[in-house]
Amino acid sequence: MKKIWLYGNWKMNKTLGDTEEFILSFKDAFTTKQKGYMDIHKKGFLDVTIFPPFTGLFHARELLRREQINFLDIGAQNIYFETSGAFTGEISPLMISDTGCRKALVGHSERRHIFGEGEALIASKVRSCLSNGVIPVLCYGEILEERDKGLTLEIVQRQLLSALQGLDVSEISEKVILAYEPVWAIGTGRSAKPQDAQEVCEYSRAILETIFGGEEASKTPILYGGSVKPSNGKELLIQKDVDGVLVGGASLEVSSFLGILDSYMARE
Ligand code: PGA
Repeated sequence: MKKIWLYGNWKMNKTLGDTEEFILSFKDAFTTKQKGYMDIHKKGFLDVTIFPPFTGLFHARELLRREQINFLDIGAQNIYFETSGAFTGEISPLMISDTGCRKALVGHSERRHIFGEGEALIASKVRSCLSNGVIPVLCYGEILEERDKGLTLEIVQRQLLSALQGLDVSEISEKVILAYEPVWAIGTGRSAKPQDAQEVCEYSRAILETIFGGEEASKTPILYGGSVKPSNGKELLIQKDVDGVLVGGASLEVSSFLGILDSYMARE
């Protein structure tokens, strides 16, 4: 059985009350015996993580502890690369790990395109995560114009090399997660075709191989993101090089979030 990564990016959504409601209802749904999720989780074949806004991180971690929930993980949506200092409004990876969170999205397309984050900044964020014990979930992908011009693989190569080249394999070993998210598919309802997602994820693995070698490339999870929902989750997840999905809109409700897993489980 292949291990599945189901990640939910809440973006700028949910108050503390909403977060609590989601986690408690997730607990009920996930532990339902007939679903068999707990067994799969215990065997190590499932990594389910949500990425609430900063304000919810500590609260969510505390709730997991109080409710003894070890089958859901919490990560941050962004970090700044400095550890501390005069950077008003920013949060460091040290602060993220202080809340008990060990994962952070880095380079999400909304950070790149709405907030103007460039490749050098993203590369610094990856390094800062790694030196502070936080796993960067590196998001990358082309805009529509680039896809239409046939530049997808070139853009993907450039973004991956700029974020990862120069890192030592021992620094990243099992500590980096990739999320290929074509920008035109995010929040548009228009997902990439499963074979297109597979093509880019396979290519991403080949790039990892050139940087870190085959063993590391095969161990690194590569997720696809962009309008993933229960109706297309299975087709994406059965692709050989798609290890998991990073879900935006459909991660806001437990039913649609777990519905993606349901559709995959019911594939036979
Ligand atoms: P979406 O967002 O599923 O709403 O398209 C995905 C993402 O931004 O990670």
